This record gives sequence, C-alpha cells and structure tokens, in this order.
Amino acid sequence: MKHEVIITGDGSSSIFIPELNEHYHSSHGAIQEAEHVFIKHGIQQVEKESVTIFELGFGTGLNALLTTLFAEKHKIRVTYYSIEAFPVDNALLEQLNYSELLEDTNDTLKTIHAAAWETDVVISEYFTLQKIEAKIEIFQLQQSVDLIYFDAFGPRAQAELWNIEILQKMHKALNDDGVLVTYCAQGQFKRDLKSLGFRVESLPGPPGKREMTRAIKSL
Ligand SMILES: C[S@@+](CC[C@H](N)C(=O)[O-])C[C@H]1O[C@@H](n2cnc3c(N)ncnc32)[C@H](O)[C@@H]1O
Repeated sequence: MKHEVIITGDGSSSIFIPELNEHYHSSHGAIQEAEHVFIKHGIQQVEKESVTIFELGFGTGLNALLTTLFAEKHKIRVTYYSIEAFPVDNALLEQLNYSELLEDTNDTLKTIHAAAWETDVVISEYFTLQKIEAKIEIFQLQQSVDLIYFDAFGPRAQAELWNIEILQKMHKALNDDGVLVTYCAQGQFKRDLKSLGFRVESLPGPPGKREMTRAIKSL
C-alpha cells in the first residue's frame, strides 16, 4: 500500500495511507495529539519510578520518542515494548521532522529506528526498548505492564483490532490498576472495556477531537 509523508496542523509530520484514507496521527497535529493522549493522560499519570509500557502500533516511533524524552526529563525508568506488523520504510522515516521540532539533540529517534527488533535495546539512561515485529492478533506479551498505549488505526479502518478478543489480551497483559489510553472514544469500544471490568474514563481529546478514553484495570 502506498504511504505518503504529510504535514499536520501543528507543523509536525505524519504518514497518510490513501488506500485506507487513514493517517498515523491526527491531521490537526501529530505531536499535539501524541503528547495529549499518551504523555499527559498516560505516563504522566503513573506515579511510579519505574514503568513498563506496551504500545500497539510502533508506526513512526513518535510515541516512543516522546516517552524517552519524558523519561529522561523526569528520571523515570521506562521499559517499552512496541508491536508493529508493518514496519515503516526507512525512506519515509528519514522524512519525519520530529527530531527538529522536539529538540532531540541526541538524535534519539535515529537510535530508536536503528534498534534491532525482538530484543531489549538500551536507548538512553532511562529508556529501554523492545520492538516486536508481529501481528497483535497472534501475539501474547509475556511480561505484565503498567500502561498500554493503544494506538491502532481507527475502528473504521481496522475494526478487527478493536474487538473484545484483542481487548481481553490487553486486560490480561496489565498489572492490577494498570491503565490503557487511546485517542478513540467509540461507544462500542467503551462498552466492551466496561464488560471486561475496566473502569472507563472519557476525557477531553486533543484539539480537533471531543473525547479520548482512559481505562483502568480494577478488580
Ligand atoms: C495509528 S498507527 C501508530 C502510530 C504510532 N504509534 C506512532 O507513534 O507513529 C497504527 C500502527 O499499527 C500498525 N498495525 C496495523 N495492523 C497491525 C496489527 N495487526 N498488529 C500490530 N500492528 C499493526 C500499523 O502498521 C501502524 O503502524
């Protein structure tokens, strides 16, 4: 499928797939959305000095980069597992402008992209990454995690990644009181989360989106 690098509303780049009519991030602002959903309502809410994260959809590595920068700034030790079924071509990754916009002076994004798959790689003092090339449908994480960045393409483009079986896997992977965050606020998705025993919070979304979802595993 053809992939194109585009510039979103906040000046940061993203990738667009014309065939699916789907963007990797909000067209209103890729960095703005990722910071709001995954940093502000994700890692920033976890009150621990050491946090294990699972991301569904490594994509451009933007969430991984923002999380590294957050971990270094706040001296929080992060172990980050990220699954990706269709790794983005290097030619496209080189066109992304995240390092310039985020003052990534150590070229952390390059280190993230160069990291080997299927093994733990120390990216910086506080951030260790394992990229996993697999489809979430046939993968079960062995480690339990504190936080899930649920960043699949939207239910319109990929309904099969928002069904109850996948959400059950996410529930199983989370520690007690673990949290799943996503940009999505679809009604059926939230009902499914509730039916699995998650406590579901609807929070204000990033600019251009009314709501997002935060789900807490509660016993
Ligand atoms: C919304 S994008 C993720 C954006 C990414 N988090 C970032 O920071 O750039 C969704 C990602 O999920 C990946 N994906 C699609 N189907 C998948 C599957 N079955 N299993 C795992 N990843 C999948 C896509 O290739 C894409 O990279």
